[in-house]
Amino acid sequence: MCGIVGVLGDHEVAPILVEALKRLEYRGYDSAGIATVQDGRLDRRRAVGKLANLSDVLVHDPLAGKSGIGHTRWATHGGPTVTNAHPHQAGRVAVVHNGIIENYRDLRARLSHRTFVTETDTETVAQLCEDFLDQGLGRREAATETLKHLDGAYALAFLFQGEADLIVAARKGSPLAIGHGEGEMFVGSDAIALSPMTNLITYLDEGDYAFVTRDGAQIFDAHGRLANRDARTIPAQAAQLDKGGHKHFMAKEIFEQPVVLSDCLNDYIVGDTVTFPDDVDFTDTDRMILVACGTAHYACVVAKYWFEQLAGLPCDVDIASEFRYREPPVSDRATALFVSQSGETADTLAALRHVQEKAARVVSVVNVPESSIARESDVALPIHAGVEVGVASTKAFMNQLGVLATLAILAARQRGRIDAAREAALISELRSLPGLINQALALEDKIASHTAELSEAHSVLFLGRGPMFPMALEGALKLKEISYIHAEGYASGELKHGPIALIDKSVPVIVMAPKDALFDKTVSNMQEVMARDGRVWLITDADGAAQAGDGTWATLTMPRVDPILAPLLYAVPAQLIAYHTALHKGTDVDQPRNLAKSVTVE
Ligand code: G6P
Repeated sequence: MCGIVGVLGDHEVAPILVEALKRLEYRGYDSAGIATVQDGRLDRRRAVGKLANLSDVLVHDPLAGKSGIGHTRWATHGGPTVTNAHPHQAGRVAVVHNGIIENYRDLRARLSHRTFVTETDTETVAQLCEDFLDQGLGRREAATETLKHLDGAYALAFLFQGEADLIVAARKGSPLAIGHGEGEMFVGSDAIALSPMTNLITYLDEGDYAFVTRDGAQIFDAHGRLANRDARTIPAQAAQLDKGGHKHFMAKEIFEQPVVLSDCLNDYIVGDTVTFPDDVDFTDTDRMILVACGTAHYACVVAKYWFEQLAGLPCDVDIASEFRYREPPVSDRATALFVSQSGETADTLAALRHVQEKAARVVSVVNVPESSIARESDVALPIHAGVEVGVASTKAFMNQLGVLATLAILAARQRGRIDAAREAALISELRSLPGLINQALALEDKIASHTAELSEAHSVLFLGRGPMFPMALEGALKLKEISYIHAEGYASGELKHGPIALIDKSVPVIVMAPKDALFDKTVSNMQEVMARDGRVWLITDADGAAQAGDGTWATLTMPRVDPILAPLLYAVPAQLIAYHTALHKGTDVDQPRNLAKSVTVE
């Protein structure tokens, strides 16, 4: 899940590479580096930490050249040191890599006559290629011969000493795009990285490799056959990479939610009915399989309540990394649904491939329509959230919920579980959500007023029942991701089976409970916490506050919403609690430690 870029330009490339890496920093940010060819000489600069450090290095020690490659790293093999930072160089070859070379130990053993200087798996790629050059192979042959020896997942770009008009690019398991300019060519992990330079993009297919020169790209498939891959114009997204006056991308993205949710709903609702491509048909489906990772997984857990309650469809929800190795039986009438913001998450993609031939239909819910998961699904449903930069997902989660709720309504209609009147009523509730979310956003100051105290806690519990249970999980995930405070989400009814042992006055308990049919039961659980000196922060609506707001540490009164759709609305306080707590902690909100946005390794 590192970011890679390559440029064969007609200007100095160092600043272009660094700019492109800024757009890829969401993929990893523990070190960065670039390499260029100048007067035939291959040279590099690298720095630990954020890209700003690399920029500083380049101010004092510039790197000339019109051809180059660059990398921003999320460490897998070897800590974040300058030596382990990419590009890795062996003699006449420099390489940048995203992914994991699984057989790197074997390759190192095979190359024991060479001197390795890093702890990385990637260095073996450069060393192997240099070894083939030593054996007399040409640059292109040495690179392609190297690829034949690599197991695992990779996106790779090779740059060579003595050759300023060649980048060899390869894709297996990690995405790679080639950008076409006027007399210039580019390589990048995604189209956004290349967007200021070009929006004419060719995505390499699985197993493809390419010889890129300023005249164009020759692309070959996994069998070495010349392949024809379309170049597509990707809509400019550059404007979205601006904080729009907010202190962080995460804040901007939280506040964009009313607009992006409304855009998303407009795409799937016409008048009083939901509308999807014809091949989204749940009539004969006997079971739903929902698979994802992280926040997207919690969106699936919410959707389970919707598909089961509205459409009467049994649902299995799985974490992708578990599902792919569990070998679960898959009914040939099952609809398998994969949810992924990036559309590139390695575990989710592998899980999708696992069911591709077995399930009746593979549907994906993605934010990046050109992504691998979208392209390998029978039907890809875009969530229209726009580029999400903050590593902790907010607006993408909101729109995943928007699409999943709409899909569940479709399934309910197709299966005769709801009539037109109920469908219209649900749609009207859905359409009211952007306005309600705006009202929830207006509660920011109230929410923020309790977060100083929350930031002192060592551990925080979130509780919820029914569809609010996954929201408790998501609330806890958001808090730990960006504030580094230990937090757990539990089903309210589960508290007494273990977690209640944690309760004392130092553990804040955030209860997310609109006044619904289960509210009284949740209030009982809340009383159990308060009876043990626990500090309860109740997030509810006016009726809930009137009934149970006394004696809490804090009570937040939210707008009323149909309880079945409450997860979309209650996502907002969960996000704002995490955000403001993180501000008190002074953490790096948009790029929290150890995380990355697009996780293309297992
Ligand atoms: C990473 C991110 C999470 C995200 C998860 C799944 O862990 O930090 O925010 O939820 O990946 O990503 P996806 O792109 O598949 O939704």
